[in-house]
Amino acid sequence: MEISKLKKEIDAEIAGLKTELDCNEFHQKYLGKGGAITLLLRDVGKLEADERARVAQELNVLKRDVEGSLFVLQKEFKEREINEKLLQDKLVDISIPDIGREVGFLHPITRVMREVTEAFATMGFIIEDGNEIVTEYENFTSLNVAPNHPARDMQDTFWLDNGGVLRTHTTALQNYLYKKYGPECRVIFPGRCYRNENIDASHDMAFFQVDGIMVGKDVSIANLIYFMKRVLSAVFKKDIKVRLRPGFFPFTEPSFELDASCMFCESGCNVCKKSGWIEFCGCGMIHPNVLEMGGINPNEYQGFAFGFGLTRLVMLKFGVDDVRVFNSGNIEALGAVK
Ligand code: DAH
Repeated sequence: MEISKLKKEIDAEIAGLKTELDCNEFHQKYLGKGGAITLLLRDVGKLEADERARVAQELNVLKRDVEGSLFVLQKEFKEREINEKLLQDKLVDISIPDIGREVGFLHPITRVMREVTEAFATMGFIIEDGNEIVTEYENFTSLNVAPNHPARDMQDTFWLDNGGVLRTHTTALQNYLYKKYGPECRVIFPGRCYRNENIDASHDMAFFQVDGIMVGKDVSIANLIYFMKRVLSAVFKKDIKVRLRPGFFPFTEPSFELDASCMFCESGCNVCKKSGWIEFCGCGMIHPNVLEMGGINPNEYQGFAFGFGLTRLVMLKFGVDDVRVFNSGNIEALGAVK
């Protein structure tokens, strides 16, 4: 028989092999003692001398290929048989959900900080970072906080021996930013702040805030309302409205308290104390004294500033009712914050 014809026949048979038993029969038929390839190889010696080497080589290649294919198929069938047996014996339950391969996770504060900064970045804000140890000038004086203001008190502020303070608000970076960016700027600056608090479910000594400023020739509170709506809607993944009430901060004039429409209800719940609104951040138009101390002429430029508690935002977003979890290092409790 011509070798090429035999090869075709063998290929067709290999394609039809379905079980280990088929493989054994096939092996017998072609490679066993009386198998077709075996017989042909045995008869090579009877051929004419000039044909002998070529036919022997072709047959050996064929034999090697067939053995290779058979080996792969036998292995596959064997594994399939084992798996089927495991399934039959109910040793493997394929309906159990995948346990996943995730290891570790980001702290909830980090996750929401990224959402907030990304939302502001898409609206042209630069993201800045500053020192946690600042001067009295940065934390208070440059922000128009009077020398006798109670916030400067030891009760509220951690003072360092060298006269520095652990910043009590991220607002402490404002003065540096006016000097760095000049009168046309849009910056947010999130970070950790410290206050000399008695710790309980809603107060911690270390917590996160996000402050922001925008200065220019035609900046107004209307711009702030728009940005806040966008950011809050991005974080809560639903349409959030905002409203302003009069407020007081030494570094803004006029000053406002900005409320967000309750993200949990339509008509009043425990979180919004049945009012439909949640107090969210302090804000206002930057006080002329503050601009001036930052080297910006308040007769030419104006801007808004705001500051909110990032830690509190995370608590609202995930329904966390005890602030202490964030600094606890309790991986299990932090992992449950979703
Ligand atoms: N620093 C204020 C606080 O910690 C929050 C704040 C209010 C920041 C008004 C501002 C602002 O920039 O304009 O309570």
